[in-house]
Amino acid sequence: MRHLISPLDFSAEEINQLLDLATDIKENREKYSEVCHGKKLATLFYEPSTRTRLSFEAAMLNLGGSVLGFSSADSSSASKGESVADTIRIISCYADICAMRHPKEGAPLVASLHSGIPVINAGDGGHHHPTQTLTDLLTIRSLKGKLNNLTIGLCGDLKFGRTVHSLINALVRYANISFVLIAPKELALPDYIRENVLVANNIPFREVESMEEVMGELDVLYMTRVQKERFFNEQDYVRLKDVYILDKDKMQNAKEDMIILHPLPRVNEISVEIDKDPRAAYFKQAQFGVYARMALILTLLNIKVDEANAER
Ligand code: CP
Repeated sequence: MRHLISPLDFSAEEINQLLDLATDIKENREKYSEVCHGKKLATLFYEPSTRTRLSFEAAMLNLGGSVLGFSSADSSSASKGESVADTIRIISCYADICAMRHPKEGAPLVASLHSGIPVINAGDGGHHHPTQTLTDLLTIRSLKGKLNNLTIGLCGDLKFGRTVHSLINALVRYANISFVLIAPKELALPDYIRENVLVANNIPFREVESMEEVMGELDVLYMTRVQKERFFNEQDYVRLKDVYILDKDKMQNAKEDMIILHPLPRVNEISVEIDKDPRAAYFKQAQFGVYARMALILTLLNIKVDEANAER
């Protein structure tokens, strides 16, 4: 039995196979529409979510399976003090696979150690968000045609933004990737990622505070929200929340074929005027998330599509 807790739980080859599968799903929806008949996905969300929870549920429904779960800790027995370990033991009796989001770093890992079913980390605190990474890789590969030879700008809250942490871990495995880290000092990438991932793998990167000065170099601009829920005080959040706002002026020097990604939700960091720019890819990215999660469910449940269809 396999889980997905960290973006490195799959090899680069396995990630490429998963992205191939997601691409085939996108192009041949009907072929996959009943392959999870009789299977259940549990979504255990101890933190708010729109995209991740609902795209997981849409993914399982698109595969012909069923879904159950809770969307907040308050509506589960966590509110009575039940541990993650006990919860997953119980959910293992009710479902075939689960996706868990939790505010505490490492909670999905703990769950996986006590689980009878595959556990997918759907975001743990400021740590990792590996299924967002699968979504991001699929989006970049689909729109740019490659995952190598790219200059990636990561902008905003690089300290608390778990999507950025996971994406860096995944992208350093591809050839000739360089990063431009655009953040104020207070929201800079944590040392453990800078040193253990970028420096340790000899990945070229620069840290800057001005978005305008680097815009013309980027193939991908990955915007992020300042993560209000991870701040210790409101004052710091208010001071930093609008530090970057991508608008038409800032796009003037961007390459014609640059793509703008954002894991969403957006607050103010991308002006709505940018939504009409053909380079804005963040809503497409959310759609790619369904295909990536469908491919992940099939992979972790070890469902062979041709066999499943032949049996029906
Ligand atoms: N991208 C993402 O994780 O969005 P949600 O918080 O809405 O799930």
